[in-house]
Amino acid sequence: MGFILAAVGSAVGLGNIWRFPFQAGAEGGAAFLFVYLGFIALIGFPAILVEFVIGRRTKRNPVGALKELGGDRWKYVGGIFVVTGFVLLSYYSVVAGWFFQYFITGLFEGYTATTPEELGAAFGAASSGTSALLAHAAFMIAVTGIIVAGIRSGIEIAVKVMVPGILFILLGLAAYGAFAIPEASQAYAYYLQPDFSVIAENWQTLLPAAAGQAFFTLSLGMGVMITYASYLGEDRNLAEDAAVIVSLDTFIAVLVGFVVFPFIFQAGADPTEVGPDAIFVSLAQAFATIPGGRLLGVVFFGMVVIAALSSAISILEMLASYLIDEFKWERPKAAAAAGLAVFVLGIPVTIDLVFLDLFDGLADSVLLVLGALLVVLFVGWVIPEDGLDELTTGVENIGSLGSIWLWAVRIPIAIVLVISLYLGATGY
Ligand code: PFF
Ligand code: NA
Repeated sequence: MGFILAAVGSAVGLGNIWRFPFQAGAEGGAAFLFVYLGFIALIGFPAILVEFVIGRRTKRNPVGALKELGGDRWKYVGGIFVVTGFVLLSYYSVVAGWFFQYFITGLFEGYTATTPEELGAAFGAASSGTSALLAHAAFMIAVTGIIVAGIRSGIEIAVKVMVPGILFILLGLAAYGAFAIPEASQAYAYYLQPDFSVIAENWQTLLPAAAGQAFFTLSLGMGVMITYASYLGEDRNLAEDAAVIVSLDTFIAVLVGFVVFPFIFQAGADPTEVGPDAIFVSLAQAFATIPGGRLLGVVFFGMVVIAALSSAISILEMLASYLIDEFKWERPKAAAAAGLAVFVLGIPVTIDLVFLDLFDGLADSVLLVLGALLVVLFVGWVIPEDGLDELTTGVENIGSLGSIWLWAVRIPIAIVLVISLYLGATGY
């Protein structure tokens, strides 16, 4: 149970609430949703199992695990995870800081912006300058403090409160949109009716965007799930646990679309033009208009900060454990050094959002896909017997599903990832 909670804590975060809606908007709505869901089921789910088998087999951190199973040269893949972790967490923390500021605003002033100009100005104020920097600092201090203290039970409680809370508010907002926003039907058409000519025309950007989002949201491609699975008992059915984590994460992301798109259409905005401000602009407007909105907003933004914390913790833990194992640093020193480096790397993002694009593009469409491809190739071709054996440990009767998984990992998934990586890297 502790494992599932920790893994859900890592998976559910800004990827679902902040990143998913504007990726979906920009890539054509339903076209993106369709390709994304395919990616989650056919690639994300098998790929999370790939990380699980490595972690539980070795019971070690990603670098040690790859070295133990594959020899010295595979430990460099761990180096890629570390680079990805630094880059990703640096802007993740800045965006978490935006949510923190919306939480503070609700607490002390309430949400008053309703016109596009007011909403845009509020977002501009939160996303740049001193306040963005301070919020980024506060968030990284919290993450670092938790890693230094090595707190575990707090995370489990936080996840037990945060996930139902977020679900409850999102369901309420989705229902509000359905009944109170006349433009909702247009929004659902955009979000739910895939136009296959859009997919055919835009697959060069759709494919890497969907692949990157699938890995981002499931915390894959940087060894975090390897680390978490290293604490897993032999009696657990890996596929069952993976199914719980993947379904919950996907459900929350898809639900956010049902909330955000009606507000975007209500404001008369072009959904393909939305950016990293989408969730802030639409929700701040919602919380300013609906009865009890201020309280709802404070609770919602507060819970998103907790969701971001439990994800950020999983990344900083991976970075710190690397420094602890490779350089024999003490935990406080490793956590503080990694936390400080992440903070410094994130500073440019608080100055200009072009750095958000730059870092997010690098981490998401290049590094995560590369990391995922390498572990997929590793399990598929270097340790297939260990992989299959570990997958079936703790399972009563899996039939031929195990060999189907291995076959999928070895050839079709690897090919799709090579193509996504190529498109992502050349498009970057
Ligand atoms: N999965 C997290 C989210 O959706 O917000 C982000 C994340 C956490 C990505 C951990 C990668 C990672 F290793
Ligand atoms: Na996620």
